[in-house]
Amino acid sequence: MAQIVNMPVTPRPRDTLGRPLHDLRISVMDRCNFRCPYCMPKETFHEHYRFLKSSERLSFEEIARLTRVFVELGVRKVRLTGGEPLLRPNLPELVGELTAIEGVQDVALTTNAVLLAQHAAQLKANGLQRITVSLDSLDPDIFRQMSGGFAERDRVLEGIQAALDAGLAPIKINAVVERGLNDHTALDLVERFRGTPVIVRFIEYMDVGNRNHWSLDRVVPSRELLERISARWPLHPVEENYRGEVAERYAFDDGAGEIGFISSVTHPFCGACTRARLSSEGVLYTCLFATHGTDLRAPLRSGASDDELRTLIFDTWRQRGDRYSEQRATLSSREHALRKIEMYYIGG
Ligand code: GTP
Ligand code: 5AD
Ligand code: SF4
Ligand code: SF4
Repeated sequence: MAQIVNMPVTPRPRDTLGRPLHDLRISVMDRCNFRCPYCMPKETFHEHYRFLKSSERLSFEEIARLTRVFVELGVRKVRLTGGEPLLRPNLPELVGELTAIEGVQDVALTTNAVLLAQHAAQLKANGLQRITVSLDSLDPDIFRQMSGGFAERDRVLEGIQAALDAGLAPIKINAVVERGLNDHTALDLVERFRGTPVIVRFIEYMDVGNRNHWSLDRVVPSRELLERISARWPLHPVEENYRGEVAERYAFDDGAGEIGFISSVTHPFCGACTRARLSSEGVLYTCLFATHGTDLRAPLRSGASDDELRTLIFDTWRQRGDRYSEQRATLSSREHALRKIEMYYIGG
């Protein structure tokens, strides 16, 4: 008779609100080839801005090692972000290393797609499962304005096509909507991608970081956008793909696919937030709106064992009580003024 062996199982941490650790979002590059005003406004991120030196960024080996430790603690989904992750030399190699880790079920990438056409086939070959492309408007002038002066809309569209050709379907598009800036072009985006393997998702403009001059009156509530879109193409709600999905899904009544809404301002989803974020210099953050994080690079580079790293991450997650989006409306102005991490540094 086969002997039953009791394999040691690493305990999985729960945070103070009972949420497990399930997703790891890894920023591999703090630089970006765009300057979207809601993320990296040009006046701050100018040519003399001091980005990280490459030695300050985690190496692929360090990222893979940390990912293995995160997987032992429960992580199953990994998303690579930036800045712009495709600016990191040889990124497909890292994708290959991460998809080979036992326990990782899903590796995805968020990109502005300017460099996607040249990398799509290699990313797919190395096991990348999903791509999300940031594209706020198809209108060339608005696109230029919202990317900080870059007139590369057609390269983004070519990147999307190359990814589809490489077999990376379905592709999601993230469009940040700002009132008075691009909200009137939302229907064009829907029209363009309806009936294709591309799923457009509209994101409410968020107060990430402290430098994007956010104000509530520039947020277009998803409900308003939903009404506008469904007046043209009737929609019905669809069940979430998994518990805690950030986008609320709606399908076209005529069968031409689906769209999504990410409503962190009007309909926060902190209750089911299982996401940890790792900056490119190896700081672990437990919320997109965090004001401080836990440095993993120093212990990593001074010889910490996997057990020690695991304990550090376990304890950080266990102490987590973040639910910023749910608290946004009730925070004091002093709390709002605290210096939050910036989106370019931590990814979306
Ligand atoms: P999949 O469901 O795995 O496809 O990924 P996702 O829905 O998490 O999508 P993605 O990573 O593209 O996130 C889309 C956008 O939602 C991000 O760019 C952020 O703007 C926002 N977002 C994602 N996660 C969070 C979060 O934890 N908190 C808040 N407030 N916003 C988030
Ligand atoms: N509000 C909402 N979404 C944002 N993103 C970046 N900054 C913001 C913001 N202030 C999104 C971008 C991109 C992803 C990396 O994060 O659209 O898809
Ligand atoms: Fe770059 Fe994405 Fe930030 Fe735009 S939103 S500046 S593309 S990291
Ligand atoms: Fe998670 Fe923080 Fe976003 Fe809430 S605000 S969903 S806790 S990352």
